[in-house]
Amino acid sequence: MTSRPGDLNDLMSKHRPGYALPREFYTSQAMFDHDIDKVWNRNWIWVGHESQIPEPGDYFLFDYGTESLIIVRDRQGDIRAHLNVCRHRGSRVCTEGAGKARVFVCPYHAWTYELSGELRAGRDMGADFDPAKWGLLAAQVIVFQGMILVCPGDDAPPLATALEQLAPLTAPFAFEDLKVVHEARYPVPANWKLAVENYLECYHCAPAHQEYARSHTLKSPQQMAALMPALQERSAAVGLPTVELNMTGPDAIAPGADAYYRRYPLFEGYKTGSRDGEPLAPLLGSLTGFDGGATDVSIGILNFFLVYSDHAVGYRFVPRNVQETDIHVVWMVRKDAEEGRDYNTDDLTWLWHVTSQDDERIIRHNQAGVNSHFFRPGPLAEMEWAINDFYDYYKKMIATA
Ligand code: FES
Ligand SMILES: [Fe+2]
Repeated sequence: MTSRPGDLNDLMSKHRPGYALPREFYTSQAMFDHDIDKVWNRNWIWVGHESQIPEPGDYFLFDYGTESLIIVRDRQGDIRAHLNVCRHRGSRVCTEGAGKARVFVCPYHAWTYELSGELRAGRDMGADFDPAKWGLLAAQVIVFQGMILVCPGDDAPPLATALEQLAPLTAPFAFEDLKVVHEARYPVPANWKLAVENYLECYHCAPAHQEYARSHTLKSPQQMAALMPALQERSAAVGLPTVELNMTGPDAIAPGADAYYRRYPLFEGYKTGSRDGEPLAPLLGSLTGFDGGATDVSIGILNFFLVYSDHAVGYRFVPRNVQETDIHVVWMVRKDAEEGRDYNTDDLTWLWHVTSQDDERIIRHNQAGVNSHFFRPGPLAEMEWAINDFYDYYKKMIATA
């Protein structure tokens, strides 16, 4: 395949702004390869929390599409990300999903790489061979309040301004003091963009998410607006900012270089995203009480977080193939919380487990319908505004040479 599908311009011109994308965006293998190369390889991806690799040598792999990254803490204690592609003849270097390593030894011909990615030695490569030229390719890394963001390609969207603006808003939650207590994967037979689009709108929440809709006002803009002033008073009282940060739309710096923050009210009686409204874990960071709110955070175009007063949930929609996507859901609580004493994993994960199962079902049906030759993209609703922004960024990204 060339670097862009031959009919990309035709396809782009077929998309009517304010409408869903045409069928081929979700069915074409060439378009999928293009998405990996132009979108996933050139954007910031949230791969995990630094507490997952506390010691030098601790590592995990993060795989998507055709790609694989080694996320590792090096001997100096810094977090690095390497492309998991041997510089000799291209084998995967690391094949275990997570662990502790002293060095990475390629399983094919035993080229041996340091944790820093440098090639220590290439076996029997002769006197002229210079290992310094053959280190693993490096991905860029930003650790934002403990969250590890990685951009595999060279031209990373300039995220500094967005993170500067986001930092004081998320500071009260002390993300750096979180730990991951549960991760779940929900494989869905659909293109990754349908999974992202589903996350970006709550137009479906009332009809599709019984449990979620009971506690979260996002399903109804009117109810959310009515409860917002009281929430803002309560948020301020417990030490949380009440401003909204929205760098998308006309304020966008560059595609993929934005951040979003908004705290919105839960319904009365709900302190957090639990079955009965009661707390699930100790308060995060410096919060002095439960304000009955939840915060949507996004960083770039691929990374989403929902932050309650006592836990945070991270979401990724990881492409596997043109119609195979893994929905990753990651639950985090403060790192000094103890299972059994301070939180119970079943209770903590209940809401987003049932909600993600619903999402798997609706996204699967969405793809099945989009696969039909009779699918004609329909108009987006007002509540789907974030999908418009996503399409806007996405089209700019895939159009780059
Ligand atoms: S492909 Fe890795 S050592 Fe040969
Ligand atoms: Fe949903």
